[in-house]
Amino acid sequence: MADYDKYYETEDLFGEPFSELIGYFKQFEPKGNLIDLGCGQGRDSISLARLGYNVTGIDNSQVGIDQMISISEREGLKLTGLVGDVYAFDNYQDFDIVLLDSMLHFEKRDLKRETDLIDKIAKRINKNGLICICIQDTGKKVKILKDTIDNSGIDYEVLNDTPLVYNYEDKESGYKSETKYCMYIVKKK
Ligand SMILES: C[S@@+](CC[C@H](N)C(=O)[O-])C[C@H]1O[C@@H](n2cnc3c(N)ncnc32)[C@H](O)[C@@H]1O
Repeated sequence: MADYDKYYETEDLFGEPFSELIGYFKQFEPKGNLIDLGCGQGRDSISLARLGYNVTGIDNSQVGIDQMISISEREGLKLTGLVGDVYAFDNYQDFDIVLLDSMLHFEKRDLKRETDLIDKIAKRINKNGLICICIQDTGKKVKILKDTIDNSGIDYEVLNDTPLVYNYEDKESGYKSETKYCMYIVKKK
């Protein structure tokens, strides 16, 4: 059982996608192949497939993937769900856009494997490919993210660097919180 399986007993655990993320990809063309690493219950994958992207979402939570697929089948979306480990995924050359939303945390125990993952994506994605990362803007996380892309040695252009606020509400207890996030989108040249 994956860590998130039990949390995903709550449908739509993370609520609506960031409006800035959806707004950006609504106006972006062309609407190509997008991979959502750690897609969870499909908060972003479903919205992006509704915009016309051909989306693949990977997560190690079978529960999350099943929920996403059932919505996708009902709506006839171009959305494929894979249960698997994002660290074992390698076929970045098949995608125009790689999305990681709330998937990286840069805690001490995960720092090396997470920065290695960003480095791998940066090196493997095709020229003109986009990497879009939404990450908590606390401590040094955003700096680590930017330094990791910079240190990968790829030539890139920053398309978007936007502060976000994530509003969480636990519907049962009424608990609410606000967390600062950053959306960082780069294009490989
Ligand atoms: C905080 S949730 C974010 C979900 C989604 N990206 C969103 O923003 O709604 C992090 C997700 O990453 C998934 N995850 C964490 N490590 C993973 C791994 N090694 N392989 C696949 N999925 C992973 C978890 O199962 C969880 O669904």
